[in-house]
Amino acid sequence: MKVGGSVLASPPNPELIRKYADLIGDLRAKGYEIAIIVGGGRLAREFIGLAHDLGLSEREQDELAISVSRLIAQVLAMKVGGYDWRDVPTTIEDAAKVLNERGIVIMGGIKPGMTTDTVAALLASEVKASIIIKATDQDGIYTKDPRKYPDAKKIDELSFDDLEGLLTESRHRAGIHQIIDPEAVKILREKRIKMIVVNGFRPENILLAINGARIGTIIC
Ligand code: UTP
Repeated sequence: MKVGGSVLASPPNPELIRKYADLIGDLRAKGYEIAIIVGGGRLAREFIGLAHDLGLSEREQDELAISVSRLIAQVLAMKVGGYDWRDVPTTIEDAAKVLNERGIVIMGGIKPGMTTDTVAALLASEVKASIIIKATDQDGIYTKDPRKYPDAKKIDELSFDDLEGLLTESRHRAGIHQIIDPEAVKILREKRIKMIVVNGFRPENILLAINGARIGTIIC
């Protein structure tokens, strides 16, 4: 599961963090093994702006955004598992190890030059996950940006090829905001990992998606 910082951290939202913690507990109780990758949202972008204004490099801007995503991951991890879960993994290998041991892992970013979508895709590929649910601030993927164009239409299902046509930026920059990071799309297509994009402000959507309901946008 990739939970956008746009959902959990723009601004940090205790009510939603609590609901996600409950959802994760429920999924675990049902026997699911689950990896949760969280983004840094508005807070991360504020730090990117601060670093930019200070003349810090793109890499340094990314590093700060990663720290913010890890902080949000740490809050969620503590809420789910208590103090013992305070150490958020910082590599794919460590994350896979924690997932193997605990059945759950919660993490943020891993290294500059990517986004947490790609972290989710890399981890999914490493642990051979069959599906990623991306919880974001929109109801799914639209024909164009619904915040700018009122006539934008939600797409129920599309292929990774179709998706590439909708993405506008292919090169990484700190704080880049697209429906899905094109790097992640490449990995998911190659490894045939399905993604469902749902509105993360209603965490119950994640359960619905897992149970096969037609919700959000399915990419496969
Ligand atoms: P994301 O863009 O992945 O977080 O990371 P987000 O706020 O959840 O995004 P939405 O809500 O899905 O759109 C924020 C920034 O952190 C840096 C990048 O600058 C990225 O744009 N980052 C994140 C990295 O450099 N490496 C990582 O592994 C993760």
